Amino acid sequence: MQRSGSARALRDRTGLAETLFAWYDRERRDLPWRAAPGTKPDPYKVWLSEVMLQQTTVKAVAPRYAAFLRRWPDVMALAAAPLGDVLAAWAGLGYYARARNLHACARVVSREHNRKFPTTATELRKLPGIGGYTAAAIAAIAFGERATPVDGNIERVVARLFAVKTPLPAAKSEIEALAESLTPKDRPGDFAQAMMDLGATICTPRRPACGLCPLRPDCLGLATGLAEALPHKEERGERPVRRGAAFVALREDGAVLLRERPLRGLLGGMLETPSTPWVEAAPNGAALEHAPVEANWEEVPGLVTHTFTHFHLELAVYRTEVGADAALTEAAQPERCRWLMRRDLADAALPSLMRKVLAHAFSK
Ligand code: ADE
Repeated sequence: MQRSGSARALRDRTGLAETLFAWYDRERRDLPWRAAPGTKPDPYKVWLSEVMLQQTTVKAVAPRYAAFLRRWPDVMALAAAPLGDVLAAWAGLGYYARARNLHACARVVSREHNRKFPTTATELRKLPGIGGYTAAAIAAIAFGERATPVDGNIERVVARLFAVKTPLPAAKSEIEALAESLTPKDRPGDFAQAMMDLGATICTPRRPACGLCPLRPDCLGLATGLAEALPHKEERGERPVRRGAAFVALREDGAVLLRERPLRGLLGGMLETPSTPWVEAAPNGAALEHAPVEANWEEVPGLVTHTFTHFHLELAVYRTEVGADAALTEAAQPERCRWLMRRDLADAALPSLMRKVLAHAFSK
């Protein structure tokens, strides 16, 4: 007998979680932040991992998560840390507002919540840096609330399962409602993580392994030949290009001039080499007016490029060597500047872009 698409989905919804759990209990990824089956998850670890995993891959997060946890094993320890140390430990992971909010959140939980994370998504959302996704993930995984976090993996699995043809981001709320409708009362955290694992290992963006998928009989995307093409995505516009110049001053004792960026905004609170503003206009040739030290500046051949979410950046790099008595110009904004020894740069709060700038300056 032929079943209509919706009848099929309805019938299978109840059994779908059971099928998924059977698969997850055999195939779950052994990830460092996951509690062993049958043991209670530590909300601090769940929160830390979920914040790190926003916008960053499991592979990149795993070693950084371990290092973070060794250094700050609980929320009190993190709350007591200086923000600069937390930003330095986050260097290279990108999206630095996450680190600033992580630190702010640790302080709120320590001081206003008696060191305990709230246990519901509604309360969790009130904390710094915890949006809808993270609140649902912590509530479901750490506290067993029937909440449905929808990350990119789950979005893809659900879009395929229900053959959602509306392109993202318009489809977001439809997909969230469908994911919510699948979430069981029992083991909602395992349900979310099973969907994530399915998306990461089988229902992959390209060449999904539908033959191995436990949800194969339920998948409308597979039945209609659309699985690999879904979810559709709205074409994003071209990113604009911004340009500027960065200045690398090396002092004779081996120190490099760095500057702390304002706390608010892009790369907030991180260190940078002093730079011109980054603008979309063509370079006007007056970069050296922004030089942080009066010296013989030499332009290093080539450009450093970096892609942020909303623009591409191209930086010319100037370098110079100066004596121990080098005086900073007004353009340097001296109150935010400091000299840091080259050997200490590895542990500094330098974002990837600034590491590229320094490597470029020291490469030629
Ligand atoms: N991505 C985000 N959260 C995750 C989790 N808990 N397990 C695996 N991948 C994830």
